[in-house]
Amino acid sequence: MFDLQSIVRENVWRMKPYASARDEFKGTASVYLDANENNLGSLAGENYNRYPDPHQKVLKSKIAGIKGVKQSQIFLGNGSDEAIDLLFRMVCRPGLDRMLHLPPTYGMYEVSANLNDVQLDAIQLTPDFQLPVAEVLRNVKNTTKIIFICSPNNPTGNSINPESIETILDNFDGLVVLDEAYIDFSETPSWTTRLAEYPNLVVLQTFSKAWGMAGLRLGMAFASEEIIAILDKIKPPYNINEATQELALKALDQDEQLKYMVEEIVQERQMLEAALPTLPIVEKVYPSDANFILVKVKDANALYTYLLDKGIVTRNRSTLAGCERCLRISIGTTEENQQLYQAISEFSN
Ligand SMILES: Cc1ncc(COP(=O)(O)O)c(C=O)c1O
Repeated sequence: MFDLQSIVRENVWRMKPYASARDEFKGTASVYLDANENNLGSLAGENYNRYPDPHQKVLKSKIAGIKGVKQSQIFLGNGSDEAIDLLFRMVCRPGLDRMLHLPPTYGMYEVSANLNDVQLDAIQLTPDFQLPVAEVLRNVKNTTKIIFICSPNNPTGNSINPESIETILDNFDGLVVLDEAYIDFSETPSWTTRLAEYPNLVVLQTFSKAWGMAGLRLGMAFASEEIIAILDKIKPPYNINEATQELALKALDQDEQLKYMVEEIVQERQMLEAALPTLPIVEKVYPSDANFILVKVKDANALYTYLLDKGIVTRNRSTLAGCERCLRISIGTTEENQQLYQAISEFSN
């Protein structure tokens, strides 16, 4: 049975959060002399002399409406990378505890584990990039605190079978962190709808992909109120800056534009998925539910360099086990995708 207190680090469970000036005084006043701000103004623009809302209340209430979850079930991070790091710090005792992840996958789980001195168990995804469920469960130890599952997975692009995720959630008493950075490009429903069923589930999403806000750094974690309360307790108080909060609020009003961009990107992906396999150098385009494709070619290094010479940068993933001879290619604008296709076909000839 999942018991949050038994997996949260004791020091984290006991600690009190930093009490910011904005926490201690919550009303409105005419003169603010409580936070050592510059009351003369800001060189960056109106409002930026003030610390931002540490609880991001307005933004969270808007996100809650859009995502169909309670405000108290949302954590906002400086990118989802911040949420990944805080999840380690919340449950993993440095030098003692472990996490399990499933390569080839997003590299930050490993980097963050290493930074936090957390032992790593890496279980390779199956050849079609699915979860080897029995092997995962066999490798869980009593110090394993987190299993990271990325769906749609980076860099492979595919979604992970929901039944497999369910089995892990049902049979593992630590946190199952489901990274849905690319969910907006997928037809698969988000696991945010299943939070009530699984107290050990944490869903990560981000504004960096479909919303086009990678430069602002805004990521989301959705989980039980209890888990979110701990993440909020341990985060740096002002982790989401004022500009990001304001711009994200504006972006959230543009759901039609979001839909349009996602449809456009998915259409362009489908175009490349159909066109690239006709080229002799391309061995396989893996099915993708994301805004990128993984392409297996005859000589990945040669194609990568050729594309670079043409001014086109892709991600050479050929050194990753399971991704031999593969390039990961983000979906660009129509013109960029045409340039890419043209360049690969020239290389093919
Ligand atoms: C699977 C996955 N998770 C998280 C992230 C990072 O997201 P953020 O920009 O919100 O830190 C990425 C970025 O590439 C990603 O591929």
